[in-house]
Amino acid sequence: MLHIDNVSMSFSLPDGSCVEALKNISLEIKKGELISILGPSGCGKTTLLNIIAGFLAPTSGQLTFNNKTISGPSAERGMVFQKGALFEWMNVRNNISFGPRMQGRPSSQTDQQVEELLQLVGLQGFAEKAVYALSGGMQQRVALARCLANDPDVILMDEPLGALDALTREKMQALILKLWQETGKTIILITHSVEEALLLGERLIVMAPRPGHIHQSYELPFAGQAVNQDLREIKKQPDYRDKYEAILSMIWDMEEDIMGTSQP
Ligand SMILES: Nc1ncnc2c1ncn2[C@@H]1O[C@H](COP(=O)(O)OP(=O)(O)O)[C@@H](O)[C@H]1O
Ligand SMILES: [Mg+2]
Repeated sequence: MLHIDNVSMSFSLPDGSCVEALKNISLEIKKGELISILGPSGCGKTTLLNIIAGFLAPTSGQLTFNNKTISGPSAERGMVFQKGALFEWMNVRNNISFGPRMQGRPSSQTDQQVEELLQLVGLQGFAEKAVYALSGGMQQRVALARCLANDPDVILMDEPLGALDALTREKMQALILKLWQETGKTIILITHSVEEALLLGERLIVMAPRPGHIHQSYELPFAGQAVNQDLREIKKQPDYRDKYEAILSMIWDMEEDIMGTSQP
């Protein structure tokens, strides 16, 4: 469904120098896949997601989605940001139905859809609430519902749980797995949490910096196991613990390298 072919991205800085944010990224993503992308800060994760979303054009390389070249943003590729980027002046209902209303759908149709989406994200009865009255976790549920309202083929998430406390985060991890199972959507989730990357990726891609590139890729059983197993139980498995330790050391070493080379 998504082909990323030899994509590189450099940014020119005001002083005339250049940052190579991504170099030669190639990736194939199939419909319905759940992909997590993990890497230290600055390795180009957000840049890659922005390129897939069509917010940025790569310096070189090609991207196609459903056999069409990506040349800008589109409703088929929905984004959920770290902080919901919700419209603070609208209630929950109007936030969720924003996309469909912009497409000209009457509120008689969107009201029904809002109810279904609120049910799906566990926020029944919250349609009339102001978004500023909701907790961070609830706001991210609204952001997910708003994204789903546009019926995208792929959902792009840039550290969507990064600003949440540990307990809320765990509940949201379970929600993302549930949405993936129940909607069959393709999901690409960026995180710098090893735990999240292991749980929320059938395929986990580890990126490394300078310039940003794909360092390792893993096929993982954990997201699939979560269909009928508690997340806490999955995290206790020796296989999970081993991968957790190995990947954590890998990221740790990368961060040490970054810190080391920036010393005078
Ligand atoms: N608009 C921009 N202008 C200049 N440099 C940028 C810009 N966006 C990102 N970068 C640089 O590109 C690199 C990758 O950034 P980013 O994709 O945000 O990484 P990550 O999301 O993995 O932390 C960093 O060195 C960052 O400073
Ligand atoms: Mg980022």
